[in-house]
Amino acid sequence: MITCQAPIYFRQFLNDETACASYLFGCKTVGEFAVVDAHADLVDDYVAAADSQGSKIVAVIETHIQADHVSGLPGLAERTGATAYLPEGSGAEFAHRPLADGQLVELGNTVVEAIATPGHAPAHHSYLVTDHRRGEEPWFVLTGDSLLVGDVGRPDLHAASEESVEELARTLYRSLHERLLALPDHLLVYPAHYAGSVCGRGLSGHPASTIGFERRHNDALDAGSEDAFVEAVLKDIPPAPEQQAEIAAANRSGEPSAAIA
Ligand SMILES: [Fe+2]
Repeated sequence: MITCQAPIYFRQFLNDETACASYLFGCKTVGEFAVVDAHADLVDDYVAAADSQGSKIVAVIETHIQADHVSGLPGLAERTGATAYLPEGSGAEFAHRPLADGQLVELGNTVVEAIATPGHAPAHHSYLVTDHRRGEEPWFVLTGDSLLVGDVGRPDLHAASEESVEELARTLYRSLHERLLALPDHLLVYPAHYAGSVCGRGLSGHPASTIGFERRHNDALDAGSEDAFVEAVLKDIPPAPEQQAEIAAANRSGEPSAAIA
């Protein structure tokens, strides 16, 4: 642990227009912050919040290439000089550091560990965050569009010829049950969406939960078998977000403003 005792900083940023949640956090001892799942409309807000804490944004991290809203990653990386991190195999066409399962991003006493949780997208990570100033065990997990509060991420938006929607649904089942539900019940869960997003169906309006609460009360985790989960998750999928293909392509290119009308 790095000595000096400035506390961790953590803020959840909500964008009600797209029902997206993003996160700014890090270690004030070294003044290094990360943003996870940055939203294009909130770039000024992340920068102002980091400035107010006398800290710099040094890492911009995506759980996956987003298909429902324009990412703030390119704008934020350009503005701050932060390193961009995406799951390996994401297909991102701009300079970034690909993260493998288990790889760490260190921000002083705050350490982010990538956990591969594919299914919503073929390349999708959750991020387990430990604040070593308080304890050696993880404190919260950023689940992106894998485990949501009251639901799970839809598996159809990122399906392509290599992997069908059904294969992605099966992959998602294993990510949820073998990776996320293997985490302790007390762990806080912070997802990328809440009620109002088309990325799920039964989403709660509360943009945070715990592993234990979702284990007990999230119907999508209670299907009983992989086959039953797949059948349930593929039923009544809501319409895709407007401009879904264009948004995903723009976010992959790293030049969102040029590509979106
Ligand atoms: Fe997504």
